[in-house]
Amino acid sequence: MDRSVFMRILFTVFGVLSGSRVHAEETPPRVVHHPSDVVVKVGDPATLSCRVDGNPKPTIEWLRNGQPLDTANGDGQWQPMVLSEGSLFFLSVGGGRRGQSHEGVYTCVARNSAGTATSRNASLYIAVLQEEFTVQPSDVEVAEGEVAILNCGPPMGHPEPNIIWKNNGLPINTSNHHYTLLSGKLIIAPAEKNHSGAYVCVASNTVGVRESRAARLSVLGKPVLVLKPENVSVRLGESAQFYCQAKGDPPPSVVWSREQGPLPNGRYLVNPDQTLQIHYVTAQDAGKYTCTAVNDAGVVTASAQLRVEEAASTQQKDLHKELSALRVALENVTIMAPGSNISQVQWKVRENCFREFQRKHKCNSCVICVVFSL
Ligand SMILES: *[C@@H]1O[C@H](CO)[C@@H](O)[C@H](O)[C@H]1NC(C)=O
Ligand SMILES: *[C@@H]1O[C@H](CO)[C@@H](O)[C@H](O)[C@H]1NC(C)=O
Ligand SMILES: *[C@@H]1O[C@H](CO)[C@@H](O)[C@H](O)[C@H]1NC(C)=O
Ligand SMILES: *[C@@H]1O[C@H](CO)[C@@H](O)[C@H](O)[C@H]1NC(C)=O
Ligand SMILES: *[C@@H]1O[C@H](CO)[C@@H](O)[C@H](O)[C@H]1NC(C)=O
Ligand SMILES: *[C@@H]1O[C@H](CO)[C@@H](O)[C@H](O)[C@H]1NC(C)=O
Repeated sequence: MDRSVFMRILFTVFGVLSGSRVHAEETPPRVVHHPSDVVVKVGDPATLSCRVDGNPKPTIEWLRNGQPLDTANGDGQWQPMVLSEGSLFFLSVGGGRRGQSHEGVYTCVARNSAGTATSRNASLYIAVLQEEFTVQPSDVEVAEGEVAILNCGPPMGHPEPNIIWKNNGLPINTSNHHYTLLSGKLIIAPAEKNHSGAYVCVASNTVGVRESRAARLSVLGKPVLVLKPENVSVRLGESAQFYCQAKGDPPPSVVWSREQGPLPNGRYLVNPDQTLQIHYVTAQDAGKYTCTAVNDAGVVTASAQLRVEEAASTQQKDLHKELSALRVALENVTIMAPGSNISQVQWKVRENCFREFQRKHKCNSCVICVVFSL
């Protein structure tokens, strides 16, 4: 092909193309990028974007709460400005009371000779975090193995405050399977002894951090019997012992009882180590004895049988019968020394019963003496 012919064809094509541009149809504006909601801290900058196309190039106007917005031409600290591509820019967002706040619903309006387009509404919120918790966590006591729930209602805030918990000042790790965070509540299941401590609910968002009061979680140990009573078999007139030792947190109190009737009046003693001693066992003492350990977290019991066998000799049997018939009266209680926890108690055998006993057994003392700890 001849070079000049080629050039002419090229110019012709170019001419057609450029001609079509000059005479392009007018197109109404179209919003290609809508603004979206923003939450901004007072004093921070913010941008609400808006991009449009259309022919001829549309002009942009912004509305706030449906009313045309005064925009600055570049010098305004307070008034937002419209950037060249259409976005609305705030140098420093104001959060004052009505009239002094930039909070509101913003709309971008694009116009050209072919028409008008309106963007989606976008809200500008001022970020806030109030001081007061709506629900403060309260102290909780649970037994070991149970479920502990610590409540927390964070202060009102925007954006929605994020919640974490601290135990004794350290953030707790919610990937630990004992902990579950459920709409602010901390659920500890099962609670163990070492979960006891001071728990603080911490709420935070872009504005700041708020800490709740410290709530005390006390995980109590249910009573456990470390030593249980065992069945015992004793002869008439002998002594019987039942052991019972309990631990727990708080330390449990231990009480002894009988399945039928009261403990043998005057002949039993509970030692400081909770051992039950029954002295001078009679046939009526046979039966079931129960040790009960109680604290705030629970109760545990254990029972054992007391079996009473015939006395070995007939002489012992007789003595036993006679002693059983004796009636005594409290004679004298003496504190051994000031400040001492030891006392001496003297029982006097009732005269009428005693004379015969004395005569038969040729004993002179008319007093039974018991020394015991208070
Ligand atoms: C946008 O906001 C204005 C002013 O608040 C309101 O009048 C209008 O109904 C809203 N439009 C839409 C689509 O929500
Ligand atoms: C939390 O616990 C998980 C698993 O027990 C562990 O992988 C992770 O490192 C812990 N995170 C922290 C901050 O201690
Ligand atoms: C608590 O004690 C258990 C064992 O009883 C242990 O496995 C766990 O790591 C302890 N937790 C903490 C927070 O000390
Ligand atoms: C104690 O005696 C009772 C009743 O005779 C019996 O049921 C129980 O098994 C005995 N306990 C022990 C530890 O031997
Ligand atoms: C009580 O016992 C003490 C010590 O054995 C004795 O000194 C005192 O006199 C007794 N009192 C009476 C009223 O018997
Ligand atoms: C009585 O006091 C002694 C020492 O002063 C002490 O070892 C003992 O445990 C006390 N007994 C009771 C029942 O408190």
